[in-house]
Amino acid sequence: MRDSRETSFARAFVAGYPIKHSRSPVIHGHWLQAYGLPGTYEKIAVAPEDFGDFMLRLKDADSPYRGGNITIPHKEAASRLVDRIDPVAEELGAANTLWREDGLLHATNTDGIGFVANLDAQHPGWDKVDRAVVLGAGGASRAILQALRDRGISEIHVVNRTIERAQELADRFGAPLHAHGMDALNSLLDGAGLFVNTTSLGMDGTAAPLLPFDRMKNDALVTDIVYVPLKTPFLQQAEQIGLPTVDGLGMLLHQAVPGFERWFGQKPEVTAELRQLVLEDIEAHA
Ligand code: ATR
Repeated sequence: MRDSRETSFARAFVAGYPIKHSRSPVIHGHWLQAYGLPGTYEKIAVAPEDFGDFMLRLKDADSPYRGGNITIPHKEAASRLVDRIDPVAEELGAANTLWREDGLLHATNTDGIGFVANLDAQHPGWDKVDRAVVLGAGGASRAILQALRDRGISEIHVVNRTIERAQELADRFGAPLHAHGMDALNSLLDGAGLFVNTTSLGMDGTAAPLLPFDRMKNDALVTDIVYVPLKTPFLQQAEQIGLPTVDGLGMLLHQAVPGFERWFGQKPEVTAELRQLVLEDIEAHA
């Protein structure tokens, strides 16, 4: 039986559809090389109609893979098809990291861990806030809301164009969460200590509304999970009035750490060199 932490040659993958633009091979490929570890990390395009078979083959004792990442559009299906799911992924109903252990296929979701690990690295003390405002209620928002709640933030406001989606997440994650439509956004920023954009507003040069970040606390942090462009309109607005900001690229890098450690047996570091490599990859494919 394979042990997920043995140090012999290991293969891991990222499966999605489409998969061409995934940055994960750059990240894991860099770490394999940097630590001199024997292994590969491969992109696999899996169409939705083939995903069930893909998961069955992964569970087989003869699978060549020690584990892998799951990305759009398979995260929800993966969470239902594994043998064991951890509480984080179970509550989210979405898995992004799989590994084989003791003959069983296990799953977790590292998006939320990646989000908080990035803020811990870039802006220590960010979590000493009473009120956080999160814009957006899609798949990315879900993992962030869960992570903020688990970090103990006592008042988390989720604001979304479609208020029903915000309400669904507030119901799912419990007491610290409150749901609102867009019209409440400006007044919610009053005295807030953290703003997170999880929507596509500002992505790839699209417009984003002007927000009254000056109503937030003097030392409030503004962060965006969009990383193309790196300096999004929301981050620019915050910088212009002197607020600290954290861009979205670090979340992508940090969410990859737990998977790499499981498959290849080494906890990797998120370095400036890795960040530069991924930035170059983004620019090369812009
Ligand atoms: P992801 O999984 O990346 O979060 P998603 O599930 O499609 O993607 O969610 C996109 C988010 O961006 C949603 O919160 C969406 O709002 P709706 O739920 O109302 O669709 C938000 N969004 C996208 N375009 C927007 C826009 N022009 N104005 C406001 N919100 C927008």
